[in-house]
Amino acid sequence: MCGIVGIVGQAPVAPLIVDALKRLEYRGYDSAGVATLDKGKLDRRRAEGKLVNLERRLGDDPLGGTIGIGHTRWATHGVPNEANAHPHFAEDVAVVHNGIIENFSELRDELKADGVVFSSQTDTEVVAHLVARELKNGASAQDAAFEALKRLRGAFALAIMFRGEEDLIVGARNGPPLAVGHGDGEMYLGSDAIALAPFTNAITYLEDGDWVAVRRGGMEIFDMAGQPVERARQQSVGTSLLVDKGNHRHFMEKEIHEQPEMISHTLAHYLDFAGGTVADFALPFDFAKIERLAISACGTAYLAGLIGKYWLERYARLPVDIDIASEFRYREMPLPDNSAALFISQSGETADTLASLRYCRGEGIPITAIVNVRESTIARESDGIFPTLAGPEIGVASTKAFTCQLSVLAALTLKAAKARGTISAEEEKALVRQLSEAPRYASQALKLSSGIEKVARELSHVRHVLYLGRDTNYPLALEGALKLKEISYIHAEGYAAGELKHGPIALIDEQMPVIVIAPHDRIFEKTVSNMQEVAARGGRIVLVTDEKGARNATLDTLETIVLPDVPEFVAPIVYALPIQMLAYHTAVIMGTDVDQPRNLAKSVTVE
Ligand code: M6R
Repeated sequence: MCGIVGIVGQAPVAPLIVDALKRLEYRGYDSAGVATLDKGKLDRRRAEGKLVNLERRLGDDPLGGTIGIGHTRWATHGVPNEANAHPHFAEDVAVVHNGIIENFSELRDELKADGVVFSSQTDTEVVAHLVARELKNGASAQDAAFEALKRLRGAFALAIMFRGEEDLIVGARNGPPLAVGHGDGEMYLGSDAIALAPFTNAITYLEDGDWVAVRRGGMEIFDMAGQPVERARQQSVGTSLLVDKGNHRHFMEKEIHEQPEMISHTLAHYLDFAGGTVADFALPFDFAKIERLAISACGTAYLAGLIGKYWLERYARLPVDIDIASEFRYREMPLPDNSAALFISQSGETADTLASLRYCRGEGIPITAIVNVRESTIARESDGIFPTLAGPEIGVASTKAFTCQLSVLAALTLKAAKARGTISAEEEKALVRQLSEAPRYASQALKLSSGIEKVARELSHVRHVLYLGRDTNYPLALEGALKLKEISYIHAEGYAAGELKHGPIALIDEQMPVIVIAPHDRIFEKTVSNMQEVAARGGRIVLVTDEKGARNATLDTLETIVLPDVPEFVAPIVYALPIQMLAYHTAVIMGTDVDQPRNLAKSVTVE
């Protein structure tokens, strides 16, 4: 989604803003722009496409000035061209925006009736004109912004700059995140702490309904009644982490390879390996007393939750309802008193997941979240958080966040099973020991690259791919299909293997690769039967299994990817890696933009 930067500084800000925008690239965007105020002149450069185009524009025609705002745009209203790129101007006002102004067409009609001529198709431009109209009516810059904000409905993070005000940027938040960075004689605004990392790690997060006047000497935050409000200043952990690709071609490749380490950090946070027990971490509810757990998330985080459901129900005998957050938020699910909610989100900012959380808040049940960004809105609004220790995930395709979410869910499963008395101390010890081996198995899985590349070359020639799995391998099949389609643009579907004959089998022919995820587990034989059905119809099978599975499958495959033998409980964490690697190599062969695939955003802050 769009990224916002604002700097009220001491040195020329345009290059600093571009640098900060580069740190927001991971969010996904299709055009970018910068505006500065230089000796009373409000000016901007904008460009379609990547930031390199904006840099070229700035190189040909630089912008001076020590105050400025910048933006990466992920198009919602209007095609991604230069005219729709932010900042948007209206007379003495410049605006950048992340989100959707839901009443923009009503506001645009009103402004048009006032004689305003619009120069873009965006919803954002109405904000600039509303502020400009207030200024013309004699309001101060700060008051003009406040009056305009009162007219807006929808989701927005905004930064507003004014000709004649060389020491003021107004920011506002209602939905998408906005952070204020504190410097020494300089102040900053950014969509997240990572954007501001080169400048400061002293951060204040705005809350929904807050707006802020940022000046070189400090900031003042107000609520929508115009009353000053206090928000804590915190040290951001994200800022201390270097966000670069290291020796890897893409962030996704780097993040795939970081998994053994990040899984290990995450598990160590929740398990006492030496004692063979789950650690004594706090929960805002008692697993022994709840009768249902409602899990809600989007995309890959949802699929992690689906695996969590299998685990929690099997090992802890705890019934779990799991929903895609965009459905949950509107389906008005009854939530009895003795239930609790768990939200899963890498970014902690996903609009639908946040709305689902707020629904549960309204229902009065305890709220927990598995998040990677600890300072995120979902983390802040939860009664208890379970952080994943994955480090910043930059590739749009989620990889290490997924396996770390699984690691947390595995630990929560043990916590729940122990509290509910469904596992003995010996079983707990055995499962903790199995999990402690997960990083080692993951390292072994990373060595499978060459067989996976061979399959990727095949996939790069096809239009459609089917993924099959049973039990926890079913969510993995869905995840494999999601990963492949989002970065290679090949159409892929994931199915529960047993569901094949209820429809999807009609798709099978010699052109259709079928990727079967089937470790040699309790139901391996059932999956083999499904593979036979595929083979009988000429389907080309890629089997992802272990040594025992490879020996027992007894049918011809296009390729068999053989993983180490791993215990069933740990398998989803380990089998995620070849699935990710397959999508990655296919995308690389096809030459797509692996880290920032078309149309996608890392942090989905609108619904
Ligand atoms: O930040 P979140 O975990 O809430 O994001 C949820 C989805 O948008 C995300 O998992 C998405 O599906 C990924 N691009 C998948 O790789």
